[in-house]
Amino acid sequence: MTVPPERDAYGEMMLAALEGEAGVAEIVERDDGLIDANITGPAMYFAPFRRWPAHHRQAMRFVHGRVLDVGAGAGRVSLYLQERGHEVVAIDNSPGAIEVCRRRGVNEAHLLDFADVDESLGTFDTIVMLGNNFGVFGSAAKAKRLLRRLRALTGDEARILAESRDVSHRGTADAPWHVEYRRRNVERGRLPGQIRIRIRFRKFVGPWFDYPMVSPAEMRDILDGTGWELEQTIDSDDTYVAVIKKAARGPAARTVRRATAAGATSRASDRRRPRSAHASSRR
Ligand SMILES: C[S@@+](CC[C@H](N)C(=O)[O-])C[C@H]1O[C@@H](n2cnc3c(N)ncnc32)[C@H](O)[C@@H]1O
Repeated sequence: MTVPPERDAYGEMMLAALEGEAGVAEIVERDDGLIDANITGPAMYFAPFRRWPAHHRQAMRFVHGRVLDVGAGAGRVSLYLQERGHEVVAIDNSPGAIEVCRRRGVNEAHLLDFADVDESLGTFDTIVMLGNNFGVFGSAAKAKRLLRRLRALTGDEARILAESRDVSHRGTADAPWHVEYRRRNVERGRLPGQIRIRIRFRKFVGPWFDYPMVSPAEMRDILDGTGWELEQTIDSDDTYVAVIKKAARGPAARTVRRATAAGATSRASDRRRPRSAHASSRR
């Protein structure tokens, strides 16, 4: 479902930032009452390539062919890839974000919930989900369903570049309100990093949505049986970008490839420290 305009807090924030209004902060409310204001505002969503974090820039090396930019925000990824000659389709469930994408020059931007992606958009070689947007899948079960559908909408050499965070990484050094939130998630049978949040901007209050953050091991479990596998991770001291490729068909091939991916990523994940470029309550 797309966000109704009267509840499009995120989109209104992005439009205010585009207009150059002062004091635009990203305010994220979590369902345990935690409120986090990102006082640097939405600047990262508008950043040119040279200001992106290194792991985002590195992820662009894996992009090929026709691109789907999922949850495009202000269109920074779409614009960069368009300039590099890629055909890019940007989607977002926020009407304001899509208006911002179009006004900034994204050639093809659709107001669309990721869950509703189908063959009407054509087929893709790369699906980009930066800005922690693995969370846009909504839950592990929804991710499994949608990943199976995405197999049919992508070429054999397709890649999904999806950013996420290993929320367990900080362990006992983490803030008690995050530790408690994760504990309650586990008690309820949810992923530890499954957060339910909404965005606020001035008098706009966005709808609640679920936004899972997963470790590489949790991501591998989600990918298992979907026809996709984790090829490698591109790490930072905060989040990581998962490079996901199509698995060879057949259970035997899947087992071998999973073992390889596990070896490659366990080393990488050891170095990771979770810290959001966005609001820290998103964890
Ligand atoms: C954290 S921002 C990331 C923006 C952009 N990818 C970037 O890296 O700058 C998340 C974006 O995903 C969009 N979004 C959230 N849930 C979505 C859904 N179910 N379908 C499509 N877009 C969604 C939001 O409106 C927002 O623009």
